[in-house]
Amino acid sequence: MEDLLRIENLHISYRTMEGTVYAVNGVNLSVEKGETLGLVGETGAGKTTTALSILNLLPKPAASVDQGRILFQNRDLLAASKREIRKIRGDRIAMIFQDPMTSLNTSFRIGNQVAEVLRIHRKELGKREIEERTARLLETVGIGRERWDDYPHQLSGGMKQRVMIAMALACSPELLLADEPTTALDVTIQAQVLQLMRHLKEEFGMAMMLITHDLGVVAENCERVAVLYAGEVLETGTAEEIFDGPVRHPYTEGLLGAIPSPDHKISRLSPVAGQTPDPSKLLPGCVFAPRCPHCSKRCLEDKPKERQRGGHRIKCHLFADKAEWRE
Ligand SMILES: Nc1ncnc2c1ncn2[C@@H]1O[C@H](COP(=O)(O)OP(=O)(O)OP(=O)(O)O)[C@@H](O)[C@H]1O
Ligand SMILES: [Mg+2]
Repeated sequence: MEDLLRIENLHISYRTMEGTVYAVNGVNLSVEKGETLGLVGETGAGKTTTALSILNLLPKPAASVDQGRILFQNRDLLAASKREIRKIRGDRIAMIFQDPMTSLNTSFRIGNQVAEVLRIHRKELGKREIEERTARLLETVGIGRERWDDYPHQLSGGMKQRVMIAMALACSPELLLADEPTTALDVTIQAQVLQLMRHLKEEFGMAMMLITHDLGVVAENCERVAVLYAGEVLETGTAEEIFDGPVRHPYTEGLLGAIPSPDHKISRLSPVAGQTPDPSKLLPGCVFAPRCPHCSKRCLEDKPKERQRGGHRIKCHLFADKAEWRE
C-alpha cells in the first residue's frame, strides 16, 4: 500500500508565559490510501497539535514546528507555500473538529456554507451545478435540502456535526482529519454519525485519521492504530495487533486495562496510574518510564528506539533484545 500521508520526526512546541511546552516530540506515523488510522492517547498527548500541523492551522505565533516533515503524496506540506496549503485544505485534505462551530459560521445559512466550499475549490462549476451538489451533500449526511435556509442555531448538535461533515466532504477529499468528531454528541447520535462516516469513507474511498479517546470507536472504525503519549508515538499496529495480539507496549496495555475485554466493549480509555509528564521538560529516557510497571534504570536514562515486527512498531526497551523485533 502507498502512504498517502507520512509524518516523520515531527517536533512542535508552544511558547507560553510559563515557558516552552514540548507538545510533539518526534512523531512518526503514516496513513495509507483509503485506510482509517485511529490516533489515541490521553488528554494532552499531542493529538490535536499533530492534526493541526498537517494543514498549517497551528495557533501563531505560539506554536512552532521545530523539526520534521509532513509528506502528503511525497510532497512536504511544511515546505509548501500558504497558497498551496490553501488549495489543499478543504479540497484534498479536510478536517472536522469536536466543536462544529469551529467550522460553521453563525450568520450564514447552512446550505450556503456548504455551497461556499464548492465555490472556492470548484471554480469550474456553474451556479446550478453547485446548488445541485450542495443539495445532494446535505441529503447524503441525512439533512433534507429543505433545511438549506436554516441557520446553525436552528439545528441540533448532531445536525451541526453533519453539516460540518458535508462541508468536509464537499470536494471528496483524499484524507479526512477527524478530531474527536463525535465526543460532544450523545451515544445514539454518535453511533449514527460514525456509521455515516464509515459509509462515506467506503463510498468516496477516502482515508481518515480518527482522533479519539474512545477505544470502542477505534475498534469499530479503524484498520490501524497509533498510540500517542507525551508527544511520542509509543506503538503502531493493526487494530488486531493492538486489541487482540499477544504483545503490546506497557502503556497500551495500561490503556486497555488489566483485564482485556473480549468484546471490545470497553469504551473509555482506562486510567493508567500516575501523572503524565510535565510537558515543559524533556525526559532523557522513555517518556512512559515514570509510570511503567516494568521500568528499569535503562528506561530512565536512554530513550528507546522504535522496533518493528512486520508493520507492528513498539518503542520500548523490553523489545530491544528480542531478535524478531528489528530496528
Ligand atoms: N495554544 C496552546 N498554547 C500552549 N500550549 C498548548 C496549546 N495547545 C496545546 N498546548 C499544550 O500542548 C500539549 C498537547 O496538547 P493537544 O491539545 O495537542 O493534546 P490532545 O492530545 O489533543 O489532548 P485532548 O485529548 O485533551 O484534546 C498539552 O500539554 C497542551 O497543554
Ligand atoms: Mg485534542
